[in-house]
Amino acid sequence: MAEHPLSGKRVLLIVSGGIAAYKTPDLVRRLRERGVAVRCVLTRGGAQFVTPLALQAVSEETVFQDLWNLTDESEMGHIQLSRWADMLLVAPASANILARMAAGMADDLAATVLLATDKPVLVAPAMNVRMWDHPATRANLETLKARGVGVIGPNEGAMACGEFGPGRMSEPLEIVAALADWFAGRDGPKPLAGKRALVTSGPTHEPIDPVRYIANRSSGKQGHAVAAALARLGAAVTLVSGPVREPDPQGVTVVGVETARQMLDACRAALPADLLVAAAAVADWRVEGDAASKLKKDGGAPPALRLVENPDILATLSAPGPQRPALVVGFAAETNDVLAYAQAKLARKGCDWIVANDVSPATGTFGGDSNTVHLIRAGATPETWPTLPKTEVAARLATAIADHFKNGTKLA
Ligand code: CTP
Repeated sequence: MAEHPLSGKRVLLIVSGGIAAYKTPDLVRRLRERGVAVRCVLTRGGAQFVTPLALQAVSEETVFQDLWNLTDESEMGHIQLSRWADMLLVAPASANILARMAAGMADDLAATVLLATDKPVLVAPAMNVRMWDHPATRANLETLKARGVGVIGPNEGAMACGEFGPGRMSEPLEIVAALADWFAGRDGPKPLAGKRALVTSGPTHEPIDPVRYIANRSSGKQGHAVAAALARLGAAVTLVSGPVREPDPQGVTVVGVETARQMLDACRAALPADLLVAAAAVADWRVEGDAASKLKKDGGAPPALRLVENPDILATLSAPGPQRPALVVGFAAETNDVLAYAQAKLARKGCDWIVANDVSPATGTFGGDSNTVHLIRAGATPETWPTLPKTEVAARLATAIADHFKNGTKLA
């Protein structure tokens, strides 16, 4: 059996203050099960939610808490802690520690280690939804991302404070998967190095007036996962995305758009590219005209909305021409007769491959985490893949794309 990508890795886990800290002993266990050595740094806030003893028991290592503990400083100073690790993981990452990281503060052991390190840093934020949405936190995250810090999650859901929204720390197994992805991306083969990829993702929002819009249920999970998977194989990826809650994938250039027409413009601006994967659920229609002010109820009949067709981004970019990417992959969202409709779509849109998925409500594909797809390549028998997490569908698709380019090169 292949070795787990995390086997033999050394992770310095920094636990900051937040109710999600109670999940960290489980996180340590999960990492250790996969052959990871874990040492923990616990902030004062973190120690309010998890005891050093619990972390020590599961990590079987001393837990470090105090910058000025002479024994630790002589035997295992903050520089040593960072030198020992392959990666620093801050989980949970409170709004406070993100702010301290962004500001470059060194006011406790955790902040000092984070400032003194030259190792990669990943953070798994956890906080109240308003703190997460606050412009200060948003700006701090942008600063950290620009410095190369990776962000895992957070998830959306009910929170300890009684509110609902993004801000829950990712589950331990999700964090483990993100770490594995990260190491696989760093250490794995790069068959798409030198290739430029363009990926579309998410829904589009088509305005009815300045306050209302037409949208669909696409979460962007599949398209974002494809962008991440292509980047892991070494491609230089531009991801043009409609409005989604998905975090930006690591190592990918993200261009945010709202409407189909903006998406087409952004795609054109990102050309030339060697390959295009069109995973966005582009709205087929938009409301005709430009309602500059809010439509009002005036006591009469409801307004009639006249729809006009949006440009078909996939068909436009698939059309023969000097800018056409060498490989164009579309997606087909169908609720019935999936294979037949997808085959027809492949021909109609002029793309080379189609990933067909069943989005009928019973499958839970829209917004869900898994997907059952068929890969249809022009001139070949369709492949039906088992139901897989969207990240796995993305990884397989990226590998198939890499194989296509490899074989293409051989033939040339
Ligand atoms: N697509 C696109 N631009 C559009 C509509 C669709 O680029 N205006 C792309 C999607 O990103 C996807 C593919 O076309 O790769 C198929 O999308 P889908 O919604 O399944 O098909 P439609 O074109 O909407 O066709 P139909 O309404 O017949 O299902």
